[in-house]
Amino acid sequence: MSQPLSAVPTRALAGTIRVPGDKSISHRALILGALAIGRTRIAGLLEAEDVLATAKAVAALGAGLRHINGAVEVTGQGVGGLRAPAEDLDFGNSGTGSRLMLGVVAGHDMVARFTGDASLCRRPMARVLKPLQRMGLSLEDDERTTFPLTIRGTQDLVPIVYPLPVASAQVKSAVLLAGLHAPGCTTVIEPLPTRDHTERMLVHFGAEISVKDQDDGRRAVSVRGDAELASASITIPGDPSSAAFAIAAALICEGSDIVLEGVLMNPTRSGFIETVGEMGGDLELLDLRLEGGEPVADLRARASALHGVDVPARRAPSMIDEYPVLAVLAAFAEGETRMRGLAELRVKESDRLAATAAGLTASGVETVIEGDDLIVIGKSSVPGGGVVDTHMDHRIAMAFLALGLGAEQPVSVDDIGMIATSFPAFVPLMTKIGAQFR
Ligand code: S3P
Repeated sequence: MSQPLSAVPTRALAGTIRVPGDKSISHRALILGALAIGRTRIAGLLEAEDVLATAKAVAALGAGLRHINGAVEVTGQGVGGLRAPAEDLDFGNSGTGSRLMLGVVAGHDMVARFTGDASLCRRPMARVLKPLQRMGLSLEDDERTTFPLTIRGTQDLVPIVYPLPVASAQVKSAVLLAGLHAPGCTTVIEPLPTRDHTERMLVHFGAEISVKDQDDGRRAVSVRGDAELASASITIPGDPSSAAFAIAAALICEGSDIVLEGVLMNPTRSGFIETVGEMGGDLELLDLRLEGGEPVADLRARASALHGVDVPARRAPSMIDEYPVLAVLAAFAEGETRMRGLAELRVKESDRLAATAAGLTASGVETVIEGDDLIVIGKSSVPGGGVVDTHMDHRIAMAFLALGLGAEQPVSVDDIGMIATSFPAFVPLMTKIGAQFR
């Protein structure tokens, strides 16, 4: 049953909130915890559907999991120490969990069937399977490159040097995780820097990682295999991709002044914050500090007069999940905003390029897709008044609920059910700072 919701034009959002733990880091903490020897304690794990699917998968592979004193404890089995699952590994909506776990299962002598919901079963897996097959993974059905997929891993993986055809942290991470199980060095070369949480966390667990910026501008990341990981303690910072919705709402709702505590400020994730600054957004970083090996800050966002900007393609990996909500901000920014090089948005939980453009059109905003670029013609006042089709995509739902808060008329989204995949407390947290929904 779908759950529609409308966001009602709201003024003066105010107050201090903490957004939930970072989704990317949460998946990685569970996975590396399962591959380490002993008990890993994770504070602030994002307990949303995507991450819970990864938790279920590592448990099905033999890792121990329990809640203890407000944290999650994973009892790892050591690199190469997981056992074959008795059932299918169902990753629900989660591209990250499933792709990273393909890299883990690749290094074990086992057969496992990977599946997920309708959206995940449409998403491209060949990008991960290709390098993993070069390392030794085999497919039970050679013809298939989408879930459901049955794969056979091996203890005899070989290390590779793999230049990524697309700038994808998921593919990089899958290869590095497989590389932990192979003898010698496995190297991934990225065309543009992508989120580096896997590398940082591998270092934290005691793996040998080297990162080299090459003369050609690409970055080579290597892991030494046959590794042993030692259990660790991890604190998950606030998710900047979730924070982006609250920031956007504050910028576009007149009189707003909010603070978001403990948001991850990793430079491979901060493209949205950089772009908001260029648009004239009043966003202040308070108390920038290091927590658990990652930079975090409190962010103060205030209502702002925004103007259109040109967002270069090379910035895309550092804000790939923020484009729907950036496009919403662009609707309120005077003039044209051009977001370049968005081909990857077509293969997210939905075709986000099309879904974002359609949502803006339904909200009375002039929008054009030109090749892989999205162009939005903004004005300080946005009509709203439409019904937006979320295509079962959590980020489309949250982006357009934010738009409705700042628009002239309410905006409805057809279903908020999928918000639970990444940010289950979105509606209550936004309500706490004054947002109105019905
Ligand atoms: C993620 C990487 C990105 C991003 C996703 C999370 C990760 O995907 O869109 O939400 O945690 O590695 P790609 O690797 O496909 O760019």
